[in-house]
Amino acid sequence: MADLEATMRATFAARDFTGEDVSDDVVHHLLDVARFASSGGNRQGWRVVVVRDGDTKRRLIELGRPTMAVYVTQAAAGERPFNTVEPTAVDIADAEANPPDLSWVDGLAEAPVHLVIGVDLREVAAFDAELDRVGVVAGASIYPFVHNVLLAARSIDLGGTLTTFVSRAEPAVRELVGFPDHVAIAALVPLGHPTRLLTRLRRAPVEEFARWERWDGDPVRPA
Ligand SMILES: Cc1cc2nc3c(=O)[nH]c(=O)nc-3n(C[C@H](O)[C@H](O)[C@H](O)COP(=O)(O)O)c2cc1C
Repeated sequence: MADLEATMRATFAARDFTGEDVSDDVVHHLLDVARFASSGGNRQGWRVVVVRDGDTKRRLIELGRPTMAVYVTQAAAGERPFNTVEPTAVDIADAEANPPDLSWVDGLAEAPVHLVIGVDLREVAAFDAELDRVGVVAGASIYPFVHNVLLAARSIDLGGTLTTFVSRAEPAVRELVGFPDHVAIAALVPLGHPTRLLTRLRRAPVEEFARWERWDGDPVRPA
């Protein structure tokens, strides 16, 4: 699949992988393509640790497990997990202590490669840092890079998932992979040969999220 639009439409979150390896050359190629992502001021604050070691991969997933336990429990309770606007009614400690089935999360450790993607916060201009809400601008200097990795992978029939659940355990993850304190953990991307290559993704149509001129304007529909 070489066509850009087709690749964009089919870059799904791959969580199940065959046992087939991804070579060092291919890993290098994906990062080589991804580095053309934009970043604020072209500061290119991305920092990547490529993990093949099985114990490290399992530990990464283990560190994120309590977070996914809370996420799934909140979702099951009808909440929008971890959103910073509506308070949760879920007992966090209880959800962590009594996790639901997370075998699909544990399976991520079986991906041949984990990319731990950090961002050097010294390189990021966070223009919304003083607003009274969660910051979103800083992420814009790292997630285009992460998505580029996924697009490049999908274009050669590899797959991965942009996951963020290990970020809640940032100090332990940082220590595990040796990042210094000024590097924030932006994503863990398990990468491999997906067991199934999906091509049809569920997404809301344009008219549901875009309006003309003002948010109370007409929805943007096909001409
Ligand atoms: C910012 C962001 C954070 C995400 N975090 C996680 C995560 O922590 N764990 C996970 O399993 N998937 C994570 N995902 C993957 C999404 O669940 C996935 O992209 C979405 O469900 C669409 O899946 P699809 O492309 O297969 O339809 C994340 C995706 C994004 C963009």
